[in-house]
Amino acid sequence: MKREHLIAPSVLAADFRNLSKDFEMVNQSEADWFHIDIMDGRFVPNISFGLSLMPAIKDLAQKPLDVHLMIEQPELYVEEFAKQGADILTVHAEACPHLHRNIQQIKSLGVKAGVAINPGTPIQLIEDVLEEVDLICMMSVNPGFGGQKFIYRTLHKITELRKKCDERNLNPFIEVDGGVGLQNAESIVKAGADVLVAGSSVFKSNNPIQTIEQLKNITPFNITL
Ligand code: DX5
Ligand code: ZN
Repeated sequence: MKREHLIAPSVLAADFRNLSKDFEMVNQSEADWFHIDIMDGRFVPNISFGLSLMPAIKDLAQKPLDVHLMIEQPELYVEEFAKQGADILTVHAEACPHLHRNIQQIKSLGVKAGVAINPGTPIQLIEDVLEEVDLICMMSVNPGFGGQKFIYRTLHKITELRKKCDERNLNPFIEVDGGVGLQNAESIVKAGADVLVAGSSVFKSNNPIQTIEQLKNITPFNITL
């Protein structure tokens, strides 16, 4: 079966002096979602931006908002993010002692629920919520910063996760986040990813529209005869 993969440019790498220009570029491109990175300076060693930027983001974006919460106690904030227009809310398994409850809370808000795991976290940690989630975000860098190098071990984890989902007849989006670009996108899709998050490789490109197009049009090879 041939699966189409999605591209989600990460706004963290956009030019904050000129957000409307970068959003317009993504609106005009073949990208599918906007990836919005929220960092609290506690779960991750960096602070990005928070709820107060959401109205501007919502106004500028003409595509779904994939909100990646790299924060502690996400249960305190998910409702407001949903109200502000998030379409997908992803929490980190490592930050959620009550992960199942957090996922149910997100779904009760009428948005899609995602769970993310860090490169050092085994996929076994999310085994028991696979049935519950709409998206699984496999971090391929340690979260906190854009522009880092892809950790290649993640490819094995993607393959393993895809196999598990197939065995259990589940079809959540498998998203890969961190260090994704033209140099590795094909192997990532081949390993079983559905969504490629790309920050620096898109926004630092000389021709972002073309880079998105190239990421989107990687030859599909998941073909069973
Ligand atoms: C990392 C963020 C990523 C990041 C990706 O903490 O979750 O979404 O913005 O940026 P690049 O593609 O530059 O690694
Ligand atoms: Zn992210």
